[in-house]
Amino acid sequence: MSQETLSNLLHERRRFEPPAGLASRANVTADAYAEAERDPLAFWEKAAERLSWDTRWERVLDWDDAPFAKWFVGGRLNAAYNCVDRHVEAGRGDKVAYHWVGEPPGDTRDITYAELKDEVCRAANALVELGVKTGDRVAIYMPMIPETVIAMLACARIGAPHTVVFGGFSSQALVDRIHDCDARVVITADGGYRRGAPSALKPAVDAALRHCPDVRSVLVAKRTGQDVDWTEGRDVWWDDLVGRQSTEHTPEAFDAEHPLYVMYTSGTTGRPKGILHTTGGYLVGTSWTHWAVFDLKADEDVFWTAADIGWVTGHSYIVYGPLANGATSVMYEGTPDTPHKGRWWEIIQEQKVTILYCAPTAIRTFMKWGTDIPATFDLSSLRLIGSVGEPINPEAYIWYREAIGGGRCPVVDTWWQTETGQIMISPLPGVTAGKPGSAMKALPGVSALVVDEEGEPVGPGSGGYLVLTDPWPAMLRTIWGDDERYRETYWSRFPGRYFAGDGAKLDEDGDVWLLGRVDDVMNVAGHRLSTTEIESALVSHPKVAEAAVVGANDPETGQAVNAFVILRESAGDGGPDVVKELRDHVAKEIGPIAKPRAIMVVPELPKTRSGKIMRRLLRDVAEHREVGDVTTLADSSVMDLIKEKEGQAPAED
Ligand code: PRX
Repeated sequence: MSQETLSNLLHERRRFEPPAGLASRANVTADAYAEAERDPLAFWEKAAERLSWDTRWERVLDWDDAPFAKWFVGGRLNAAYNCVDRHVEAGRGDKVAYHWVGEPPGDTRDITYAELKDEVCRAANALVELGVKTGDRVAIYMPMIPETVIAMLACARIGAPHTVVFGGFSSQALVDRIHDCDARVVITADGGYRRGAPSALKPAVDAALRHCPDVRSVLVAKRTGQDVDWTEGRDVWWDDLVGRQSTEHTPEAFDAEHPLYVMYTSGTTGRPKGILHTTGGYLVGTSWTHWAVFDLKADEDVFWTAADIGWVTGHSYIVYGPLANGATSVMYEGTPDTPHKGRWWEIIQEQKVTILYCAPTAIRTFMKWGTDIPATFDLSSLRLIGSVGEPINPEAYIWYREAIGGGRCPVVDTWWQTETGQIMISPLPGVTAGKPGSAMKALPGVSALVVDEEGEPVGPGSGGYLVLTDPWPAMLRTIWGDDERYRETYWSRFPGRYFAGDGAKLDEDGDVWLLGRVDDVMNVAGHRLSTTEIESALVSHPKVAEAAVVGANDPETGQAVNAFVILRESAGDGGPDVVKELRDHVAKEIGPIAKPRAIMVVPELPKTRSGKIMRRLLRDVAEHREVGDVTTLADSSVMDLIKEKEGQAPAED
């Protein structure tokens, strides 16, 4: 698509109605909104009936002890049974659950529901042999391979909550998470394929476990065959242990509120928060939204969430939602440009993908690479495309719709969070129109408002803070081990309402536009990072006296990490070597995704009289703007010193 066509489309097309053909056979009709509004609990109860329960619930919601919710009170079910066994029992065992695509071309594997059931049973038996009991936490640090899904479901099957740590996180991040949830078993792999070469995972686990003496077993899947260090008595190969187990395992039904998993995410303070999701409500919320938002036709669709399982998007829409619905999914191991920049489009062509779900940062990258690349592949199998993780700018939306969706596929821009577990604000493709840049409206059964500082709802045409007014099934139940922090973080800013941390506005039609975070959380390439967490990592380096981090706008990644540091006197003058050292240090402490794009060594940081760093001014510098109002600074000349430094700052390496 030429720039001119894109500009014309941008100018002309502000609203896309649902395609007529889709509306007539969509899973959900417009009545759903009114139905849910009349009786939201009856609405979610109906959604729960799509699952298989061992014992039916007595009460849909217990909100008496708000903000601590209990959904489907008294109900009992097994998540793995719902995701796997019941499809096999219904005669769909031969249906493919995953078309797994490895990064090296040609390295593919199809896994049917029957095969998945056998493997999950084996892995569940293996965990039992390792002494894992119901309620024990298991850490999973894996690449994008089928064993990762199998490991998660095996945990769910025996009621051992998993905590999946994204493979791109550092060993230190793994240590923090293992400690926080006191995991005693780690499941990992020797490595995975990334950017055309094997990358290692096991060394990070070995390094982490030097600080985690309570971890007694490490189950290691073999993916690349690279050499690994081995700790006898602790480490065991997946193939040896899982391979010799029985494919029979009787799933036990757990309480609907039994913990399913803990997923760590960055908050406004240094320590990542362990977001707790429980079994019944989470499965109801993810399966219903997967079915409704993607208008899933389980017998026809090939669904692809192009995200890593280490994030909530992978948990909800690669694993639990699609499997609970008996869908066929694609799971891809590698990067979009290996071995060529058309890899995703080749996968869509080969696997006949009908629904693609990915992040705006990927779309903007593809846009930069040019329309010619997707144009050489057959993308006609696609019928619906989705976006998640950050605000999608109208240019990227239109490009996605035209260059990938061929102008015929509706785009669902879906807003949600690790905490919400399920999609919350999104068009319904057969019902709701789409507008480039807007997530449109809260799904049926979800109540969102945009409010002002005082918590008063704003009218059409105004902006404010996004809040959720009623509990929803897949909501987080608490922060692992810290009920007070849960209450304080989410339910205190606007008492009785869930504060999402996002700014939003309503347009003249009352549709919702998400504007990004209003707190110290950054969104870099769809990854959630905390400014304070990176600042803590920087000041943990012996050369750093003080640090301030801001997210600056970036055309590709949405935001980019920019750091300002004051060095200790002993550290010298802050040349490129120090900057590199500090960037590497952040990668080591948190992970490569948190590496600052730029670090500026400054003599002072702009602070108010009460000592608060004025990040707004640093953002002005990072975005190369005129610096804003400095009158509240304790010493307004600080900004002159920083601006002076700007010209000499060593940029990224
Ligand atoms: O700021 C919002 C942004 O991502 C944040 C949640 O990040 P995380 O918990 O990592 O989950 C990402 C995947 C669900 C939100 O607070 N966000 C997510 N989706 C959108 C979005 N911002 C705008 N539009 C979206 N569709």
